[in-house]
Amino acid sequence: MNALVIYDSVFGNTETIAQVIAAALGTQAIPVSQAEAGRLCGLDLLVVGSPTRGFRPTEGMAKLLHGLPKNHLTGVRVAAFDTRIALETINSRALRFLVDKGGYAASTLAKTLEKKGGVVTAPPEGFFVTGEQGPLKEGEGERAAAWAGGLGTRSE
Ligand SMILES: Cc1cc2nc3c(=O)[nH]c(=O)nc-3n(C[C@H](O)[C@H](O)[C@H](O)COP(=O)(O)O)c2cc1C
Repeated sequence: MNALVIYDSVFGNTETIAQVIAAALGTQAIPVSQAEAGRLCGLDLLVVGSPTRGFRPTEGMAKLLHGLPKNHLTGVRVAAFDTRIALETINSRALRFLVDKGGYAASTLAKTLEKKGGVVTAPPEGFFVTGEQGPLKEGEGERAAAWAGGLGTRSE
C-alpha cells in the first residue's frame, strides 16, 4: 500500500502520534513544512494530522490542504487525526465548556480532504494530551497504532 502521513506539530505530541501511525502503516511521516502537493497524488492512503489550536488545525496544515488543486485527491483514501487537550485536565469550567463546544482540527481536516476529492476512510480521530503543551495521555500511542491498523484494511 502506497501510504503517507503528513503532520504538523508545535510541541512534538502530534509528531509522536504521526510516527506511530506511519510505523503501523509501514510508511513515512513527513512534516507539513516538507510536504509538496505533487507528493500527495497517486497515493492509496493519505493520513493528515494537526494539533487542535483555537478549535482548528494549524495555519500551515490548513494552507497546504486548501492550496491543493480541486480533485487533487480523487481516488485517494484519506483519514484525519488531531491532538487535543483532555477536558478533565482543564480546571476552568468556562474554558472546559468552550473547548468542548468549539470543535476540533480533525473534522475540519477531513472535510477539506473530502473537498479535494479524497475518500474519507475512517471517522476523524482525536488523541489526548494532558496539558496545553502535552504530554500525551497514557495509552494514546497504542490507541493511535490501533486506529492506523484499521485504516490499512478498510476498502472503499
Ligand atoms: C494556543 C493554543 C491553543 C489551543 N487550542 C486548543 C483547542 O482549541 N482545543 C483543544 O482541545 N486543545 C487546544 N490546545 C492544546 C493543543 O491541542 C496541544 O497543545 C496540542 O495537542 C499539542 O500538540 P503538538 O505537541 O503537536 O503541538 C491549544 C494549545 C495552544 C498552545
